[in-house]
Amino acid sequence: MEIFIDSASATEIEKWLKMGVVDGVTTNPSIMLKDGVYSIEAGAKSIAGLVNPRPVSVEVTTNDLDEMIAQGREFASWAPNIVIKIPQETQDGVPCYWVIRRLEDEGIRVNATVAMSLGQVILAAKAGATYISIFAGRIGDEGGNAAQVIRNSVDWLNRWQYKSKVIVGSIRSVADVLEAALAGAHVITIPPEFLTRMADHKYTRATVSQFVGDAKKALAMMEKTGKQKL
Ligand code: E4P
Repeated sequence: MEIFIDSASATEIEKWLKMGVVDGVTTNPSIMLKDGVYSIEAGAKSIAGLVNPRPVSVEVTTNDLDEMIAQGREFASWAPNIVIKIPQETQDGVPCYWVIRRLEDEGIRVNATVAMSLGQVILAAKAGATYISIFAGRIGDEGGNAAQVIRNSVDWLNRWQYKSKVIVGSIRSVADVLEAALAGAHVITIPPEFLTRMADHKYTRATVSQFVGDAKKALAMMEKTGKQKL
């Protein structure tokens, strides 16, 4: 399983990259706005440079299918590790699978995003998407069962040997991460806040504190007695 970081913050991306636990990055216009990245081009180029050769997903910003193709081509020309996020459908319900197929046929990798159902996952896989992003938190917002959608999607993709990898996004808690991992997600994209929470356990801290404390006591004993006991 791979872990991506769901962020446009260069500081957070660099921090987690250095730890060796991050395999890629996902962004969207809302994340860029929240992280103070107002130029998609400047932000995408800088993140792509930081994480190269790992993938960074950058989302199109239009509801017009022809413009999506044009943006996809342009964004992909900025760096070889940029993956284009295309939604399953526009805000008016026009399916975008034609755009996914066209870009993939041109050799541009697509992350078919904002998937909420197995039906959408099946169509995105048929259209040739490299990644399909299932929005776990938002499925839960509507009373849906995200774990079931993830498990069914991964099973179906594996059964028919589609190349598409499921990215689980819209993570709202560490429990969401663990649920997605156990449901078989190929990739989970995690906001930095939850990477920090995943790394921490109060009993780990207490145990490390005991060990460091006892090591200091042993050193003090050695200095006091002047000898070292093997
Ligand atoms: C995933 O690629 C998306 O960027 C993200 O996880 C969306 O999550 P949200 O529900 O917090 O907007």
